[in-house]
Amino acid sequence: MRIFLDTALIEEIQALADIIDGVTTNPSLMAKAGRPFREVVEEICQLVSGPVSVEVTALDASGMVKEARELAKIADNVVIKIPIGKEGIRAVRTLEPEGIPTNVTLVFSPVQALWAAKAGASYVSPFVGRIEDRAGDGMELVSQILQIYDNYGFGTEVIVASVRHVKHVVEAALLGAPIVTVPYAVMMKLFDHPLTEEGIKRFLADWEGIPR
Ligand code: E4P
Repeated sequence: MRIFLDTALIEEIQALADIIDGVTTNPSLMAKAGRPFREVVEEICQLVSGPVSVEVTALDASGMVKEARELAKIADNVVIKIPIGKEGIRAVRTLEPEGIPTNVTLVFSPVQALWAAKAGASYVSPFVGRIEDRAGDGMELVSQILQIYDNYGFGTEVIVASVRHVKHVVEAALLGAPIVTVPYAVMMKLFDHPLTEEGIKRFLADWEGIPR
């Protein structure tokens, strides 16, 4: 399973750049960076060798394609994030034969994911946390998308997104999702466990007691 970092903050990316497999951003995350958009994208793409998803803001297919072509020039690892919808699907269908990778985002239903794959999207991002904020079952959606993609042999990869806690990462891994994108605060919890810390302390204390 590949683990992406869901942020546009350079300091968070710098802290983990050597171990993460990619980065996802969105306009809200870019706003938190508080710096010129293009500059931030360039820096992230230099720091990370894996895919870096950057979202378009146009609402019509031709505007999305125009933005995507410009963003794709920034670096080889830029992936264009496109909101699902008829216009988004049209944009993905245009970009795919040009070799511009896409991540279809804001996916909340299995048929939206089906459309994304049919259009030739490289990635699809179901937002599990936002579904569960409304008492839905985000992981059931992931499971359905994985089943549909398997049924038809689609190459589109699922990025489990809108992750809220460690359990989402565990559930995504148990379902065999190929990628999860994790915010920094949750990411830090993936390394730690109180029993690990306690165990290290005890081992070190015992080690100190050994006569040398
Ligand atoms: C994914 O690509 C999105 O950037 C992100 O996971 C959305 O998460 P949120 O629901 O916490 O905003």
